[in-house]
Amino acid sequence: MKQHLTITFIFIIALLCNSVNVNAQSGITPKPLYEELQKGIFTIKKKTAVYTNLEGEERTNMLSFLKESSLKISKKGKLGKKNTISLLLVEKSEEFPSPESYQLSITPAKITISATNGAGLFYGVQSLLQLANQNEDSRIIKLPASLIKDTPRFGYRGLHLDVSRHFLSKEFIKKQIDMMAYYKLNRFHWHLVDGAGWRIEIKKYPLLTDSAAWRPYNTWKEWNKNGKLYCTKENPKAKGGYYTQEDIKEVVAYAQSRFITVIPEIEMPGHSEEVLAVYPELSCSGKPYVDSDFCIGNDSTFTFLENVLTEVMELFPSKYIHIGGDEATKKGWKNCPKCQARMSSENLKNVDELQSYMIHRIERFLNDHGRKLLGWDEILQGGLAPDATVMSWRGEQGGIAAAKASHQAIMTPGEFCYFDAYQDDPSSEPKAIGGFLPLKKVYSYNPVPDSLSSEEKKLILGVQANVWAEYIPTPEHMEYMIYPRLLALSEVAWTAPERKSYTDFYERALKAVTFLESRGYNTFHLKDEVGERPVSLVRENHLAVGKKVIYANKYYHNYTAGGDSALVDGYRGGWAYADHRWQGFIGKDLDVTIDLGSSMTVHSINADFMQIIGPGVWMPRNVEIFVSEDGITFTPIKQIDNDVPENKEELVFRDFGWEGNAVARYIHYVAHLNNKGGFIFTDEIIVK
Ligand code: ACM
Repeated sequence: MKQHLTITFIFIIALLCNSVNVNAQSGITPKPLYEELQKGIFTIKKKTAVYTNLEGEERTNMLSFLKESSLKISKKGKLGKKNTISLLLVEKSEEFPSPESYQLSITPAKITISATNGAGLFYGVQSLLQLANQNEDSRIIKLPASLIKDTPRFGYRGLHLDVSRHFLSKEFIKKQIDMMAYYKLNRFHWHLVDGAGWRIEIKKYPLLTDSAAWRPYNTWKEWNKNGKLYCTKENPKAKGGYYTQEDIKEVVAYAQSRFITVIPEIEMPGHSEEVLAVYPELSCSGKPYVDSDFCIGNDSTFTFLENVLTEVMELFPSKYIHIGGDEATKKGWKNCPKCQARMSSENLKNVDELQSYMIHRIERFLNDHGRKLLGWDEILQGGLAPDATVMSWRGEQGGIAAAKASHQAIMTPGEFCYFDAYQDDPSSEPKAIGGFLPLKKVYSYNPVPDSLSSEEKKLILGVQANVWAEYIPTPEHMEYMIYPRLLALSEVAWTAPERKSYTDFYERALKAVTFLESRGYNTFHLKDEVGERPVSLVRENHLAVGKKVIYANKYYHNYTAGGDSALVDGYRGGWAYADHRWQGFIGKDLDVTIDLGSSMTVHSINADFMQIIGPGVWMPRNVEIFVSEDGITFTPIKQIDNDVPENKEELVFRDFGWEGNAVARYIHYVAHLNNKGGFIFTDEIIVK
């Protein structure tokens, strides 16, 4: 009996110790799979040395990385010696499920990082650096003894930067690659070309960078407003730039030494105004500044694209080449004799199939050169090319459709991954394109939809943050949009869902902001975060809640906010019209009648609208409010004209309401469409 008790006691103590240790936080982001704090510390000293069994270029890269890191270790050590950091390639085993898996063991005597691949060792070093940087205040770096066993959730962990709308220097790109590596991201999607500027030297087509890389305006916004013309580099007002092929090689090598693959994007068939401005013969009209899509009936389009892609493939070793594919207008194709002839000779029923023909043809070209095609989810239109991977941005539907058709997909839905959206109360933020994507929302994302089978789920390769730069004219502003949201994305991409906790992450993110600033990054000040629109956080109880609403005009299918009950559900909208609380009407009035069920005294009727002119969301021209007791005879009680200027650029909210005394069973609320057309959005009709 006594022995039995002793064993039970030992077992309980062991359990307790284990749970205390296992739950200990290392403070590393993204949060590792397993972390155990142990007794003692390892101190980095002058004599601390490094040993590795890595060979060749990987060895050289790793040693120079460590020397230049905050650890500043250059002394060569011997395996197993005291005060040595050993980076060991080990045999493949279940302990290391991925080439990026690693184990980091810190004891008072030595540090050992093991992995089956250079990538894993590199990530072990990043974790070590993060531990070291937490102790930066003291001049001596002391590392708590610990054991970390880590492996990523996804193999694709990406950041996309748009350098077309505003050019970013190669130094800036390298600076962001440093932070990507630090937070264990491994794909840099370089949006090198778009309608607002071509940014990569192509030797065969010099006009792309002699002219299509330069605009006579400081910002995209001014250029966009003033005719969208290019100039030459020699123009005294020329603003822009491009990467020479040498620059590209430098960035690719820099990224590669940090285990980041650079995926170039060459847009086709849409978003190609800049190419068609300088090589108009590749468009349906044959004239500059008319079309945004390549002419697909024209064989010289394919010659051009294949020549460009040939030079691109020489510069980028990436298996994936991104060919864009998004938002082609397909306008010119309908009346273009060459496109029509192509459709007829290839038996293509419509312009979607014409686009698909092009993507298939480009895919064959890439495959013939040993590469794989990656494109935005519009490449599904008209039939997906046989081996294409889909980048799902218009929600998750594209990724789901791809996986269900046995294709691989990368999730980057706007709602969770578009870092050009506001990250806080828009009135306290620099102007953004719209939307609202706070840190917490990025963090909440799960890139694997429940609707997929377990086999289909494996086809979701990972997740990516996209930063589009229309409203991001400076590098400082770009960093502000990236950080600290990129840390949340990194944890979405790396950390096992059961290990995630926003409260825990938030504390780390607060510290990371200080760290990033100390390293010269301009970040959003998380500690001053205002958060969501206050009225959206509480449910508003009022007389119309749950009552019947009769719509004269149907709301737009993408912005239903939950349907017929949305305007009387008690829930107000947040900062963004796409948050499923705002109901949108396109090209028509909001015209609804609420039946309160019985006549009652009413003292106020209010509804909010928002204006954000970038995406075409306008205030109503005016609002009319009527009441009725019988539902037949309506009495007008208020007419309110809009007084928000059409050129007001900031996101603005305005209430259109009435106060007084009326007896009513029916309320008829009409918000007339603005002369601009576009959308009107409201969130709730509040009756008191
Ligand atoms: C995109 O945002 N047009 C991919």
